[in-house]
Amino acid sequence: MPLNVWVSPEQVVDFCDALLVVFRDNGPRANRQKSRLMWLIDEWGIERLRSEVEAQMGQALFPASAKDEVNWAKRDHLGVYPQKQQGLNYVGLHVPAGRLFAEDFMELARLAEVYGSGEMRLTVEQNVIVVNVPDSRLDLMLSDSLLQKFPANPGNLERGMVSCTGAEFCNFAMIDTKNRAIAMAKELEAEMDCPTPVRFHWTGCPNSCGQPQVADIGFMGTKAKKNGKTVEAVDIFTGGRVGKDAHLGTKTHKGIPCEDLKPFLRKMLIEDFGARIRPGVVIEDIPQEEETNAAPTQAATPAVAVFATSGKEVSCTSEDLLLDVAEKAGLALDSSCRSGSCGTCKRKLMEGSVSYDGTPSALSADEAAAGYILTCSARPVGRVVIEA
Ligand code: SF4
Ligand code: FES
Repeated sequence: MPLNVWVSPEQVVDFCDALLVVFRDNGPRANRQKSRLMWLIDEWGIERLRSEVEAQMGQALFPASAKDEVNWAKRDHLGVYPQKQQGLNYVGLHVPAGRLFAEDFMELARLAEVYGSGEMRLTVEQNVIVVNVPDSRLDLMLSDSLLQKFPANPGNLERGMVSCTGAEFCNFAMIDTKNRAIAMAKELEAEMDCPTPVRFHWTGCPNSCGQPQVADIGFMGTKAKKNGKTVEAVDIFTGGRVGKDAHLGTKTHKGIPCEDLKPFLRKMLIEDFGARIRPGVVIEDIPQEEETNAAPTQAATPAVAVFATSGKEVSCTSEDLLLDVAEKAGLALDSSCRSGSCGTCKRKLMEGSVSYDGTPSALSADEAAAGYILTCSARPVGRVVIEA
């Protein structure tokens, strides 16, 4: 969302500081569901945010340039590049999904100390850059065994991969992200040759820490029904762009079960990115058009959710989750895991009935009999009235 501000390089740190202070002091941060800058913008509008940042900085800010002056394509800084200081280089290393264990940190520190000046940089793509590597130590560094794990020149399907924490360590997650992202990129890389890098971004829930909207192909964790069972799935975003002509991608496919994702992606990579199956690789499950379109969509029927306490009445469908319906209507119901396992989103159903994809673990039989539902997992059947 453009803030209509132009800042000089010297102002960048002060500007970021002011923006963070404004968010820290005014954002709805006590509510974990709303503790994001976007909710403050939603409440204030962009003009007020701009003037609060100006007030915090104590100076007026220039409006944004009328013309997009960015003239460079997005760079990932992976590989070897000469620095402006004569005889020194920086080396960008790919860290798959940004996952680093304690021993990896120690090993990277060793690399930086032995071959560079002991300094590293981190990138927004979750990679590392070792700086100040003299020409004389470059070849030695590139032959270090650590670069088998963190390569300087990964393939085009691995290098642009970013992932949020996901189900392993985050209670909000609807799916496992990092392990799946690493495995998927590795397997696709082994099977396919792609002429350009493809930026895959994975995020485990709608909080979007993995920013699927800026990816070439973005994945947002969700649940879908397959053969009557609830399975881990993703909504797919495509067309996001960063750098020149930056813009957000849009959701183009909904509820693709993770277990069906690879053939689906192969097809996208071939059709949209010019990828080819590597010679000698035999693929038996490239989906035909009708199989792709057969992604698990349920026949949705109209429904209405009435939130009795707030008096809001919202049209929706039998496929919508009531928590999502509430949020779209501007109602912030408490929630946490969003997958039926914590019970935070429990509410009383006053009228009507709901369906679940499976049996949510956080709702006991007694609670269900007493009319309670888990709004994060419940879908309305016809008209429902909820105490909220
Ligand atoms: S996007 Fe969701 S699942 Fe991923 S780290 Fe953020 S809150 Fe957790
Ligand atoms: S948010 Fe955890 S059960 Fe619904």
